[in-house]
Amino acid sequence: MTEKLNVVPFVSVDHMMKLVLAVGVERFLTEMSAYIEEDFLRWEQFDKTPRIASHSHDGVIELMPTSDGHLYGFKYVNGHPKNTRDGRQTVTAFGVLADVGNGYPMLLTEMTILTALRTAATSAVAAKYLAPKGADTMAIIGNGAQSEFQAVAFKALLGVNKLRLYDIDASASQKCKANLAGMGFDIVIADNAQDAVEGAQIITTVTADKQLATILTDNMVGTGVHINAVGGDCPGKTELHKDILLRSDIFVEFPPQTRIEGEIQQLAADHPVIELWQVMAGKAQGRNSSAQVTLFDSVGFAIEDFSALRYVRDKLIDTGLFEELDLLADPDEPRDLFGMLLRAAKASAV
Ligand SMILES: NC(=O)c1ccc[n+]([C@@H]2O[C@H](COP(=O)([O-])OP(=O)(O)OC[C@H]3O[C@@H](n4cnc5c(N)ncnc54)[C@H](O)[C@@H]3O)[C@@H](O)[C@H]2O)c1
Repeated sequence: MTEKLNVVPFVSVDHMMKLVLAVGVERFLTEMSAYIEEDFLRWEQFDKTPRIASHSHDGVIELMPTSDGHLYGFKYVNGHPKNTRDGRQTVTAFGVLADVGNGYPMLLTEMTILTALRTAATSAVAAKYLAPKGADTMAIIGNGAQSEFQAVAFKALLGVNKLRLYDIDASASQKCKANLAGMGFDIVIADNAQDAVEGAQIITTVTADKQLATILTDNMVGTGVHINAVGGDCPGKTELHKDILLRSDIFVEFPPQTRIEGEIQQLAADHPVIELWQVMAGKAQGRNSSAQVTLFDSVGFAIEDFSALRYVRDKLIDTGLFEELDLLADPDEPRDLFGMLLRAAKASAV
């Protein structure tokens, strides 16, 4: 990687796609999951704060910072469910990894694709601890941008190879099925959510709607199921009926953020939840019976993005899949910033 002080490695969407394809999607998800687990296991070392959200009528723009004392990372991410109607993504993102010692950015990268990968990797890591043993069938309700990533992560980490898809827009399910063709899945498109969850040991909800929705009602969720609730991630934006929450063991990323944004915003502020990192660290129990309904109330937390940024930065060293961005002013004498400007003026006048 470059030694030039003005230059920051920049990973464009094009380079990110080349990187993911060069590594292989399943391997990328598996390796990134290991980074996520590594960082969850040292949870207490991180600065943690609920993300800073700026809500509007149509969506939200969020900043997600964290640091482990050596590296600092943040992500800019939006969520605008109406965007797909005019050709835009619901979720787009970019992020930075920086050196805490000197404050200099070490990486600037697209994170739209990376967010889909890290969200899926985190869901699959959670399911490793929470889903019933040997689960091979997953319902995916909401078949938009995130859906295939979820499917591939659950295949890579848990061996899920049967999918039951449902979306209110049938063309989204057709797109999802077509994209996953030839990847070793047996795929059924269901007519409704009730039909989709039939026989599934894992239910992933990953819909986008800027309102309290009820994608799953209590009667749809049988005993022993693991629910991976991804789409409810903002105040006023949930997917599950409250009764499901009341009979589930609920696992979360960072409780102060999830209580604002997750499914549990429907519950009392002191309703018991279990932090996922504690399960990974052996400090709390994950699944403890075959009848238990487990719920991963995913909202997406900054440490997952930090892990993803760390992973990408490590991968760049081998692949060179980045550009050198002239991002940081670097005068010959550090205090002579104005002089640098004057010299540039002189140079352009010649
Ligand atoms: N938890 C996290 O870490 C995390 C990360 C990224 C995205 N998300 C959330 O995941 C959700 C999906 O994101 P995306 O990028 O795939 O969005 P998307 O707009 O590409 O896809 C959403 C899909 O949900 C479908 N849908 C909407 N209402 C539905 C309903 N009632 N029943 C069935 N299907 C329905 C839509 O037709 C669409 O195909 C968003 O809400 C987003 O905010 C969460």
